[in-house]
Amino acid sequence: MSKGYKSDLNWSDVTPRAQWMNRRQLMLGAGALAMGGAIAGPALAKLNAVSSPYSTDAEPNSLEDITSYNNYYEFGTDKGDPARYAGGLTTDPWSIQIDGLVDSPGSYGLEDVLSGVTLEERIYRFRCVEAWSMVVPWVGFELSTLLAKVGVQSGAKYVSFETLVRPEEMPGQRRALIDWPYREGLRLDEAMHPLTILATGLYDEPMPNQNGAPIRLVVPWKYGFKSIKSIVRISLTAEQPLTSWNMINPREYGFYSNVNPEVDHPRWSQASERLVGGGLFAKRQDTLMFNGYAEEVAGLYAGQDLAKDY
Ligand code: MTE
Repeated sequence: MSKGYKSDLNWSDVTPRAQWMNRRQLMLGAGALAMGGAIAGPALAKLNAVSSPYSTDAEPNSLEDITSYNNYYEFGTDKGDPARYAGGLTTDPWSIQIDGLVDSPGSYGLEDVLSGVTLEERIYRFRCVEAWSMVVPWVGFELSTLLAKVGVQSGAKYVSFETLVRPEEMPGQRRALIDWPYREGLRLDEAMHPLTILATGLYDEPMPNQNGAPIRLVVPWKYGFKSIKSIVRISLTAEQPLTSWNMINPREYGFYSNVNPEVDHPRWSQASERLVGGGLFAKRQDTLMFNGYAEEVAGLYAGQDLAKDY
């Protein structure tokens, strides 16, 4: 790690980039073939993900960038803390409680959640509210697939999510920084949108702990804090759920949190961003409405005043 601190990651098999590039080229070559059926062969992705038409064609950040510069307050507030401390989190076994307005509530093991699911590689730009961004090749599946499995009832209007609470393994939770658990929420139509995924890996590796193992949300048109990590509970509700950053500072962080260059954070402009890994003097780039996914998602907010519903 070259960020000026030592990392004690204990997921020991981080793939060197050169080796990964080879695998990736093979994988993309096999993409067309793979779309129709199962991929086989030892050179292919460990997670056997097919490539997705929803991906951007932006160049992904390195695995090093993606796994060493993180926000995961359960492990501390420094960008290096998750890489330093998340290695000790036990992620197997793992289950998710699914409850509220669903036909089949219950505790679902990760195996049940993943059974019958096709994992796709999706390259999404991920933008943090602090004005930096990364491009990440996530591996995951549409949240709507899981919601269909459990059966959403007609009164449901929102989906809420909670992260694990386990202070023995999450040192940041020994401080009352946040009213734990970390919580997030989406409106049901946002949750059902095909861009919204539950990710279980990145590149072709299982999800690194610091990125939210074993399963986390990715909502690419919203600021990064909506993409809650290490999910243990999903509830379907009639009322808009509480969300952690809105609870901490409602003036700065709204429920919607759509990436919007025209609506500034009260303390800084949201009009441009720094791509992580571009070097300290890299030119900032203009932030795009809905993080570049306007064509796909603008319709969800027709008639809403996005300066009010920030
Ligand atoms: N999820 C939990 N449980 N705890 C957190 O502190 N931080 C959020 C989000 N999900 C966070 C979380 C924020 S602010 C960002 S920008 C992204 O995770 C960072 O994801 P990454 O570290 O994989 O880039």
